[in-house]
Amino acid sequence: MLAPRLILLKIGPVPMLLAFKNVSLIYNPKHTVLDSVSFSLNDGGFYFLTGPSGAGKSSMLRLIYQSERPTSGQISLFGEPLENNDPKKKTALRRKIGMVFQDFRLIPHLTAWENAALPLRLAGVEEEYVKRHTKELLEWVGVGDRLDAKPGELSGGEQQRVAIARAVVSKPRLLLADEPTGNVDENTALKLFHLFDELNKLGTAVILATHQSHLVEKFHKPALRLADGRLKRF
Ligand SMILES: Nc1ncnc2c1ncn2[C@@H]1O[C@H](COP(=O)(O)OP(=O)(O)O)[C@@H](O)[C@H]1O
Ligand SMILES: [Mg+2]
Repeated sequence: MLAPRLILLKIGPVPMLLAFKNVSLIYNPKHTVLDSVSFSLNDGGFYFLTGPSGAGKSSMLRLIYQSERPTSGQISLFGEPLENNDPKKKTALRRKIGMVFQDFRLIPHLTAWENAALPLRLAGVEEEYVKRHTKELLEWVGVGDRLDAKPGELSGGEQQRVAIARAVVSKPRLLLADEPTGNVDENTALKLFHLFDELNKLGTAVILATHQSHLVEKFHKPALRLADGRLKRF
């Protein structure tokens, strides 16, 4: 009996993506959004975060991105506790995270490929690589024929594909998506969910928050469900 146990100890645990330990978030004394929530997620996984509107999904993503701090409890990301207030450490952690929002948040006067290229340009990456990599990525997400279009000339689904490309252009370890299909039709939503799945298969961990439970049910992925401040995993 001892030998297998020893082997397990040697290999060690699966690398940790995220851990919440007794995390509470209280915006005002009458409203507890998260009530001592604890869970952990493995690195590289694809997780849905579900629950009705107002359940605290966006708040939880903000806690992970460190734009919100918990009222109490501990959060660790990529094995590091998020208690340290050092801005350099926060910036370094945020660089490993890509974000996608319901309202796309593209810059209206920039073209599709300029929007997607922005994080690389801001990081001072060499222009020739930026152009080549961004164009390849936009082709991969399915908007290769719309490179020079401005956001106002693109459909909702196309805009979200550009926003997804921008979120992953720097090869983040984690992609956070907050209701990414809230502004597109059902058919497009399904295609975008498949795109997130493909990105996950290429190695990016994904946490996708959505209240669209009928879409979640089509994918056999672990889901965290928030309701009344509590979290259930299924
Ligand atoms: N900055 C804030 N200040 C006060 N209340 C907030 C704030 N952000 C969110 N809330 C409240 O917290 C609850 C959870 O909101 P949210 O995280 O946006 O939920 P979801 O994304 O699941 O719809 C809601 O009742 C919302 O009104
Ligand atoms: Mg929300």
